[in-house]
Amino acid sequence: MDDVAGSAPSRLRAGVVGLGMMGRNHVRVWDELVGEADLVAVADPDPDAVARATTGRRVTGYHEPQEMFERERLDVVSIVAPTSLHLPVTLQAFEHGINVLVEKPIAATREEALRMIDAAKAAGRMLTVGHIERFNPAIRELHRRLAAGELGRIFQIHATRLGPFPARIRDVGVVVDLGPHDLDIMRYLVGSEPIRIYAETERRIHTEHEDLFNGTMKFANGVVGVLDINWLTPTKRRVLTVTGERGMYVADYIAQDLVFYANPDASATWINPSHGMSTTSVSEGEMTRRAITREEPLGVELREFARAVLSGGPPPVDPHDGMIALLLARMMVESAVAGEAVSGSTLEEVLA
Ligand SMILES: NC(=O)c1ccc[n+]([C@@H]2O[C@H](COP(=O)([O-])OP(=O)(O)OC[C@H]3O[C@@H](n4cnc5c(N)ncnc54)[C@H](O)[C@@H]3O)[C@@H](O)[C@H]2O)c1
Repeated sequence: MDDVAGSAPSRLRAGVVGLGMMGRNHVRVWDELVGEADLVAVADPDPDAVARATTGRRVTGYHEPQEMFERERLDVVSIVAPTSLHLPVTLQAFEHGINVLVEKPIAATREEALRMIDAAKAAGRMLTVGHIERFNPAIRELHRRLAAGELGRIFQIHATRLGPFPARIRDVGVVVDLGPHDLDIMRYLVGSEPIRIYAETERRIHTEHEDLFNGTMKFANGVVGVLDINWLTPTKRRVLTVTGERGMYVADYIAQDLVFYANPDASATWINPSHGMSTTSVSEGEMTRRAITREEPLGVELREFARAVLSGGPPPVDPHDGMIALLLARMMVESAVAGEAVSGSTLEEVLA
């Protein structure tokens, strides 16, 4: 850190490992970040990727992350290499005292994720996971409004994440690649843990893994989560719908829109002795589009990571949440293969 004796650290030295489809965005956003950090170095074994990232920027390119860590005295690094490399590169970064933001999914397995979490503790450095949807302004606003009780009791949360087939993703199927986004957001918004999950999957285009996923997730507080995710749809749709006593919220991740559909009958409530307040009927009411200040989610994510490092605050996304999102996705795959719901101690172990 640029630590002038006697004053608080001001700007962080940032690096990026992995300069592919997502890494390019990290490079651009770190480079544009004004105030908290300077992008000083990048690493990727692909010389073309390094040339693309360094051209026109005052940034040093490396072909080996280890060499970058040894030479650059980085404070923070984004690890955006393939998921199988998240563990070894994260461990190298901690050996050099660097704070890490690793892309989702946190790692390939529970054991790897736990080693990363333990290594962060041992090094006294921050580990956070790039669950980018947590930083989407529409989701943040929805979270704030749900926490304030605007919907009353929540009945259902429904995630739709559809789009065309991405030919470059070969190592995992759609459940592990896209599922962690919605599995994490559901836990984050519902504020309860799943007690039973079930999935159906199909493989239509992918040569090895599933590309269609329909899942359900029953939460301890009674909310039912529904996941509709695939790589088989000729248009991109990323929408989250939350239905409750007082109406329904629809959040569009791409447009960063949040719309409320009121249930005008919600005021006609009665006290249900077992559930507290209950709505007696539902009808169509007014629709209101909430005002959202739109911002690139990755910009919010990297800024909050940098600020957390500078202030010594908690990681913007707890790495345990990243691990749970991965493990829930893996269990969804297992559920689909077995044709059985997963619940009880198997699920509790994941959440422990
Ligand atoms: N948060 C999101 O929405 C989101 C979106 C896309 C990808 N991701 C995650 O980002 C990570 C990368 O995905 P991608 O789509 O950019 O993949 P990609 O295949 O486009 O890029 C990976 C890059 O890593 C490089 N690489 C390979 N070995 C390396 C090494 N030893 N050191 C440094 N770099 C190395 C490759 O040369 C390539 O440039 C994955 O974990 C993926 O799940 C997250």
